[in-house]
Formats: sequence, structure tokens, C-alpha cells
Amino acid sequence: MSNRIILPRLLEVGAGASRKAPEILTALGCRKPLIITDRMMVQLGYVGTLQAVLSEAGLDSDLFADTLPEPTEASIIAGVDKVKAGRYDSIIALGGGSPIDSAKAISILGKFGGQMRDYKFPRDVSEQGLPIIAIPTTAGTGSEVTRFTIITDADKDEKMLCVGLGFMPVAALVDYELTLSLPARVTADTGIDALTHAIEAYVSAKANPYSDSQALAAMRLIGPNLRRAYHTPDDREAREAMMLGSTLAGVAFSAASVALVHGMSRPIGAFFHVPHGLSNAMLLPKVTAFSLDSAPERYADCARAIGAALQSDDNATANSKLLAELRALNQELKVPSPAEFGIEKERYFELRTTMAEQALASGSPGNNPRVPTVDELIELYAAVWNQE
Ligand SMILES: [Fe+2]
Repeated sequence: MSNRIILPRLLEVGAGASRKAPEILTALGCRKPLIITDRMMVQLGYVGTLQAVLSEAGLDSDLFADTLPEPTEASIIAGVDKVKAGRYDSIIALGGGSPIDSAKAISILGKFGGQMRDYKFPRDVSEQGLPIIAIPTTAGTGSEVTRFTIITDADKDEKMLCVGLGFMPVAALVDYELTLSLPARVTADTGIDALTHAIEAYVSAKANPYSDSQALAAMRLIGPNLRRAYHTPDDREAREAMMLGSTLAGVAFSAASVALVHGMSRPIGAFFHVPHGLSNAMLLPKVTAFSLDSAPERYADCARAIGAALQSDDNATANSKLLAELRALNQELKVPSPAEFGIEKERYFELRTTMAEQALASGSPGNNPRVPTVDELIELYAAVWNQE
């Protein structure tokens, strides 16, 4: 029995890593990158800095800055057209998960054409699009080191999971200094997303010794540092730990997949436009409570790794401490319930069956230690509506 691990060819990790973009491009034999990003990155000056660093090195870059949060096919089509019309040899994806996921889709559609739904799971996309150099600015989605992208099918309000070697960036510049200005809300949502990646990779039916080692390391970094980064944005030590933890969690779930939280989270995001990390956070305590008894040792390891339980605690104690910690974390990081977020109750309850079906079809709940039936999924959606 062996496990296949897919990674970027090059990782540059640490303070100032993003300024190494010219060296990385040169090492990869690329000279004409298209920068794919969003308006916020332009406003924050990150794009200007990147372009200046590139032109100082004599590299000519072009810019597509119109990616949107929770990308749809419509939101990336202008980027696809730009790739088709231009003569780019690479893409630099700069931003949170949405610009990086957009860039992955643009890279494939720009080179091979078709529609995004042609590439959705269970198809294995091994085609090589334009090489992507990913520069994450959140900690984070882990998209810089995953073989996944998520694009919404706006006709069906469905978040399509797309998987394959073709979506793995060739390089990632993991620079925590880019997260020092993140607002508290984004720090919380993306941080809980990263924590969820690590936990789900560790309890996944596809977990393996390689992904376990990355997931545990990620939890040890994220556990003690998420609150610090949330309360003290300029805490460099906490930001550095969160960024590395997020990337390691990305490596872990790219190798072991995610599970029920992500499966249930995508439909909430697609129908009600809840940011990805936030819908995960809404689900994490209740879904963990649902799943605990099917993998008590694994969840106890998680509790110990994030620092919620002592090494000496038995599994049952560690598990109850894990649940208490996940609830406390949501409270401290001001995670709203779907009700508090302002979702319309009638529509939410009406859509529970559709959301449950979409969740199951994504394949992620099948990796969960306890695989839910449609009815159990429907109950779980009701249970998280207004959690304490
Ligand atoms: Fe995620």
C-alpha cells in the first residue's frame, strides 16, 4: 500500500518570500507572467510592490485584477480570454483562496478551453496549464499547495470541486508578512478554515502517514496561535506560525482530502454567500460532535495537538475538551450562526435536502469517520442553524 503525494516543485517560506518572485520565475524559465489577483490586493499596494520587484528584475508582467470572492465561471471568463489572447508563460496568483482558485481555473481553461463543469470531480485533471506561482495573503485556504480548485456553477448554485495535478501550483511563496494587515474577521475565518483542513485530513478515511505528519504539525502551529493572531494582528510570531500551519494543513488535505465539514460547508456558501472559512466555522463544533465516537483516538490526538487536552488525558477526556475548545473558539472569534449571519430561515430549511444531496455528491462526506445518511445531513443542517 502506497500513497501518492503531490507538491509544488518550489516553496519559498518566510519573511520577504514574496519578493523572491523574480528569482523563482527565472529558476522556472518563465519571463512573461500574468498576475491574477483582486481589487483589494491592488488597493493594499501588494500588486504595485510585486510589479515593481518584477520590473526591477527586467521582467515584463501583465495584470488581471478582477477576480471575485467565491469565484464563478462568469467571474473568471475575462481572465480566460486574457490568457488566450496574450502570450504569457506563467501566472502569478496573488491573494486569498479566491484569486488563487480563480487562477488555477484560468490556467486550465485558458490553455485547453471548455467549461469549468467539464473539469469537475470525479474527473482527474492531469493536463498542465500555464504554470502557477501562488502567493497567499491569508492563513489560509492552503490553495497554494493543493491540487484542488472550487468554482461555483452559478446556474445550479453549486460549488464544483475540481481535482488533479493540473491544479497544483508549480511554486508557492509563503510570506507571513503579507498577513500582518489582515482584518480580524478574515484572520478568524481563514484561520478556522486552516484548522478544519488539518483536523479533517487527520480524521479522513484517506489519511496516511505522510498526511498525518503534516496535519499534526499544522495543528500544533495553529492551535496556540489563532487567538493571538486574531487579537494582536501585528504579532509576527503568531502570524508566522499561522501561515506555516496553513500551508502544512494544505499539504495534509491535498494528500488526504477533507471530510464532512467541507462537504456541508460548500452548499451553505453557494446558496447564501457565506465566506468559505466562516461556513466551516459554523459547522465545525456540531459536525465534530456527530463524528467523535467513530474515531475517538484520532480526535483525541487532534485535541492534544492543538493544546486543548493534556498528553496524559484519556481519549474520552480529550474528546470532550476538543468539543469545548471548538465551541469556545467560535465564541471568542465571534463566529455567527447561520441565523445570526442573517440567512433567511425559511429558505435555509427549504434547501436542506438540496444542500444535503449536493454535499453527498461532492464526495467529501464519504471521507468522514462517520458517513451520514441524507436524513442525518438534513438534521445536521437544522442543528447548526442556531447553535449556542
Ligand atoms: Fe477549506
